[in-house]
Amino acid sequence: MSVIHLFNIIRLYAIIFFMNLIKILKKKNSKLLFTTPSHSGKLFILHKFYNWYKADISEVDAYNPQKALFNAEKKASEIYGTKFTKFLTNGSTSGVIASVLTCAKNKKIMIWEKAHPCHKNAASLANCEIISYELDYNRSWGVYVPPKPSQIENLFSKNKPDAIIITSPTYEGLVADIRGIKQICDKHNVKLIVDEAHGALYPFCDKLPESAVKIADYTIQSLHKTAGGINPTALLHSNDLDPQEALKMINTTSPSYPMLMTIESNINYLNSKRGKRSIEDLIKNIETLRNELNNIEFFGDDITKILIKKEGLTGEELSSILYDKYNIEDERTNEVSTMLLCGLGTTKEKLNRLKKALKKF
Ligand SMILES: Cc1ncc(COP(=O)(O)O)c(C=O)c1O
Repeated sequence: MSVIHLFNIIRLYAIIFFMNLIKILKKKNSKLLFTTPSHSGKLFILHKFYNWYKADISEVDAYNPQKALFNAEKKASEIYGTKFTKFLTNGSTSGVIASVLTCAKNKKIMIWEKAHPCHKNAASLANCEIISYELDYNRSWGVYVPPKPSQIENLFSKNKPDAIIITSPTYEGLVADIRGIKQICDKHNVKLIVDEAHGALYPFCDKLPESAVKIADYTIQSLHKTAGGINPTALLHSNDLDPQEALKMINTTSPSYPMLMTIESNINYLNSKRGKRSIEDLIKNIETLRNELNNIEFFGDDITKILIKKEGLTGEELSSILYDKYNIEDERTNEVSTMLLCGLGTTKEKLNRLKKALKKF
């Protein structure tokens, strides 16, 4: 770690320690962010003069917002081709918890030992018996590999769970064969929950991996990570039971209608010609970047997660140089590689700046 990088980290901690929220939010981040949320602060799915206070209505309001929410969720389930689609204002975390509460309460569940903490929390809250499973590790990229159907079959022959949670895509953009895994789950009568937190763009573009939304029993997606949503908007899709009762147990009775409204318009945008074109443009711009960089190695199943490595540099060194010298912040780094996250708000200009920096390596 360079002295400048160390200084920046100390400065960041000093800012966090001494500032309150209001001050910290007014402070402009000067870095070029390839992180979540990917809207880059500039993407307006809703009108930029949208008034949050005016939209902050309650259940007693004469307009019956609950009915409107019911209708919006129904329309969303038609768009996604699911049995139920629920709007979440507490992230994928709440969707994972609600899906486990819905299908695996007091039952046996298989979870990846290094999964996002919400998997274990969900299993604990639902009083499940937890069976942990391991994943293969790809040493040349420093990333875990999603399970293959044959591995799942093997796991089920040793332990008979009632449900399993699979993370696909992984943080770095590696994707599981969800169709193959679902077949194994059906054969063994196991409910399949897919944590697709990082794959919310998939249902809207054929050039991206196939989404689990129509295949799995439950699929959870964060709109705020890649799909232009604001933190922490997300979706829970079910082709099994209605998760509404579980959501009632963990959600507030005073939902944020402004936030719920952004979810509705986010989905409408993704499903519109304009939205689909912006995903295509994003992919085209990343393809251009990849084609013009023959000094850098790329990996992964999802092009929107720019997972790179450079011969002679560790992932941490690559990340530090991008940060210190080129003012570019990545989403995640390991000992071998670095991942720069892109989403609906990642403009051509932003990618050009990244390309220019990477060309100099
Ligand atoms: C794989 C995975 N699942 C679930 C979550 C939780 O998502 P959220 O922040 O939307 O609650 C995360 C968050 O980083 C994640 O990486």
